[in-house]
Amino acid sequence: MNNVDLSVKVGPLKLRNPVMLASGTVGYGREISEFTDLNKIGGIVTKSISIKPRMGNPPQRIVETPSGMLNAIGLANVGVEAFINEKIPFLKKYDVPLICNIAASTIDEYVECTKILTGEDAIKAFEINVSCPNVKEGGLQFGNDVRAVGKVTEQVRAATEKPLIIKLSPNVSYIAEFAEVVKKEGGDAVSAINTLVGTAFDIYSRKPKIKNINGGLSGPAIKPVALAKVLEISRNVDIPVIGIGGIMSWKDVVEFMIAGASAIQVGTLNFIDPTAAGRMVDELEQYCREMNITKISGLTASYILDKE
Ligand SMILES: Cc1cc2nc3c(=O)[nH]c(=O)nc-3n(C[C@H](O)[C@H](O)[C@H](O)COP(=O)(O)O)c2cc1C
Repeated sequence: MNNVDLSVKVGPLKLRNPVMLASGTVGYGREISEFTDLNKIGGIVTKSISIKPRMGNPPQRIVETPSGMLNAIGLANVGVEAFINEKIPFLKKYDVPLICNIAASTIDEYVECTKILTGEDAIKAFEINVSCPNVKEGGLQFGNDVRAVGKVTEQVRAATEKPLIIKLSPNVSYIAEFAEVVKKEGGDAVSAINTLVGTAFDIYSRKPKIKNINGGLSGPAIKPVALAKVLEISRNVDIPVIGIGGIMSWKDVVEFMIAGASAIQVGTLNFIDPTAAGRMVDELEQYCREMNITKISGLTASYILDKE
């Protein structure tokens, strides 16, 4: 069999393969570049950037749970200016699409941040985080309100011609409604999902293990939830989906693609094994060869559902 075509399209965004690195789990790229050849990866999503630098929440900010982790980092980041001056130059050394994730407390801030960054050649797309559960302002308020998500999409769309991805919250009852409004307001794709709200207590001190009390649950525990959300969007809205949530192996990638994802992001796994995402690319190629699949993109939304 000839070479397998691993390339995928997420709306107008072309990727050499479907394996991307999720926001907040690889810093700004330098942190993981010692372990994984970034030139092999489909795309790298930055930690959420905000207009001003943010310290984030006080520690304890991360706690391990059975089959996952809780984090309440609170969007700590260097701010847009330091990102441009100190972080982008390093990433320019690599031939890997850089997707810039943006967080904000107001719609104006999302727009301002996008306008500042849109002229940067290294940035190939924007992922707008309307769904972080760990910040008091913005975050979930946006992610839970379908009209707010529509407004953010509409106004950020007017600020950039680059591919626009909106990262959705799973902490809603009907996620397809949010994907629908993103499509209507000119978004090119949605990412699903961000973390699920969770908490944990120390039984001796009776205090929350996380200073912020609530955190975002990620890792293998959330994979079935994420798959159901991807499937829900895929069955109801004609918009590309980037699948995220508990991906631990190439088999999970295939499962997400079958459920409707055009590409995927690896998050928590980067903390456990920072070499895994790079390896997945080879493993996916091997799977395609064994299954006689010439184009991996054909897997997207290839689910077979029994009719009632
Ligand atoms: C420590 C940590 C920090 C994160 N920071 C961000 C962030 O800044 N912006 C964002 O959109 N998502 C952030 N996320 C969410 C991930 O990008 C991803 O959506 C989520 O963890 C689910 O994927 P996973 O189960 O593979 O980790 C963070 C996740 C973790 C674990």
